[in-house]
Amino acid sequence: MLLYYVDHGPGRVVVLLHGFPLDGSMWEYQRETLGTMYRVIIPDLRGHGGSDTPAGVYSVDTMADDVVQTLNSLRLKEPVVVGGLSMGGYVALSLVARYPERVRALLLMNTRAGADTPQTAQVREELAQQVERLNSAAPVVEAMLPKLVAPFTRTNNATVVARLGEQMAKTTPRGIAGTLRGMAIRPDRTAFLPKINVPTLVIAGADDALIPIDESRAMANAIPGAQLVEVPEAGHLAPLEQPAFTNVHILRFLSGLP
Ligand code: MLT
Repeated sequence: MLLYYVDHGPGRVVVLLHGFPLDGSMWEYQRETLGTMYRVIIPDLRGHGGSDTPAGVYSVDTMADDVVQTLNSLRLKEPVVVGGLSMGGYVALSLVARYPERVRALLLMNTRAGADTPQTAQVREELAQQVERLNSAAPVVEAMLPKLVAPFTRTNNATVVARLGEQMAKTTPRGIAGTLRGMAIRPDRTAFLPKINVPTLVIAGADDALIPIDESRAMANAIPGAQLVEVPEAGHLAPLEQPAFTNVHILRFLSGLP
């Protein structure tokens, strides 16, 4: 499927993949700052934002296929930097595992390589059914919004929190259900991490309530040569909660790429 995308700036390509159930607008601070030097391509993954929302289960591999098709439609066959946050990171890992020739470097932000536990998969299925029954994103907003940002962001940046709630509420029940079911069946890519052979920057929120910092440290340790940046006073959405700090590290990483 061809995805809706934003294409901004000159130079070498950096693709940024958003988290669930958000859309590409979560990267507004990266689009502006990175976009002064790089061509930033920000797709909305299927079921989110301006992209189509077909019926069915959206596996992370299907989402990765959509990204490749969209890059193909732009005639971008050379390897690109792929960054993904949380669900976007699952898709980025699928890309580097299945299309290694298309990935120049990786930015893995607030994400993990492991699969869902059976309990997590069960909770996702229950949430998907609830969203479908009520025909509303509200159950997901209620379940996720309180866990997405750090206490610092909740206290000091009410605007960001309100905007996130609005963005989540706009995601359709069908898109939410398809994505929840797809994430629940995603493969465990932990054993793949030592095989990653592109430069990788792992970015973690020091106060991420969904992905404990130790898990990000372990992921960075498992990827040969990976760098790790721990973002203070950031939760699950580090690039959005602490854009200035995060962007400095992303730009430093990008400028050091061969
Ligand atoms: C996300 O932010 O994309 C989600 O937390 C991913 C997930 O639910 O596993």
